[in-house]
Amino acid sequence: MTSSRPRVIAVAMQKGGVGKTTSTINLGYHLAEEGLAVLVIDADQQAHSTSGLGVELGDDDASLYEVLHRERQMRVPLREAIHSTAFGLDLVPADLALKELETGGLGPGGQMRLARQLDEVTDYDVVLIDCPPALGSMTEAALAAADDVLAVLEAGPDEIRALIRLGEAVMDVQDGLNPDLEIRFVLLANYEGGTRVAQSVRDGLVRDWGAWDAGGAYLGEIPHTIRVREAKDRAVPVAVHAPTSSAAVAYKDAAKRVAERVRA
Ligand SMILES: Nc1ncnc2c1ncn2[C@@H]1O[C@H](COP(=O)(O)OP(=O)(O)OP(=O)(O)O)[C@@H](O)[C@H]1O
Ligand SMILES: [Mg+2]
Repeated sequence: MTSSRPRVIAVAMQKGGVGKTTSTINLGYHLAEEGLAVLVIDADQQAHSTSGLGVELGDDDASLYEVLHRERQMRVPLREAIHSTAFGLDLVPADLALKELETGGLGPGGQMRLARQLDEVTDYDVVLIDCPPALGSMTEAALAAADDVLAVLEAGPDEIRALIRLGEAVMDVQDGLNPDLEIRFVLLANYEGGTRVAQSVRDGLVRDWGAWDAGGAYLGEIPHTIRVREAKDRAVPVAVHAPTSSAAVAYKDAAKRVAERVRA
């Protein structure tokens, strides 16, 4: 499957440590397994998608920082910053320099720079952007460039409020830069189903966002399992580390669902 502009999905949640990066890597892996051409863009200065996909930057390698550089003569086209990985998908890596862009360093027109760069990209079906845990410049640039938001949540007590806040940020972007943007996927990651709070967050999400099979946005849960942490330590997708683990199976199912909508 090839298209003109790829379907661009921002994997976002301003709350830290909820499973954005894990979900980006593992959904990306399974989307590629589904036969889609997948590019992951690591938009977080922590560069955890980059390390998690086993990519190490050499001194001369461009990262997203150079792609979005405020000075035109320093800028590198997105396609020149693409690295292949061992897992059937490609990556535009992040590095710590992105911190400068996060704090106002994108300069004039910066908010749309990623979107413009993605207009030039034609050889991918899906682009997943791993956003940092903040509603700052990088997340805004990702939202401006995206077709859809995939919101990642953990089943904590203040998650629903965080999701509402993300929805407001999406509305702000709709008003100006990107009228068609919507949260079209909601994923509950790192799910410990045995607790009452987890179950009530899950039930609330199904009620508010709609069950997937009924045409809603709720993609499902990814169970908490030590296999995810082990896979991270090995810098491989969980399906490579432990293919029959509950999280690997759940990410595969979720990716099938995302692929359905991308192909539709
Ligand atoms: N299903 C899971 N089972 C067990 N551990 C998990 C699971 N999902 C994520 N984790 C762990 O939780 C931690 C946070 O996950 P991750 O880095 O994906 O979150 P994040 O939202 O990207 O964080 P940040 O906001 O810092 O970017 C990681 O150590 C990860 O290995
Ligand atoms: Mg992350």
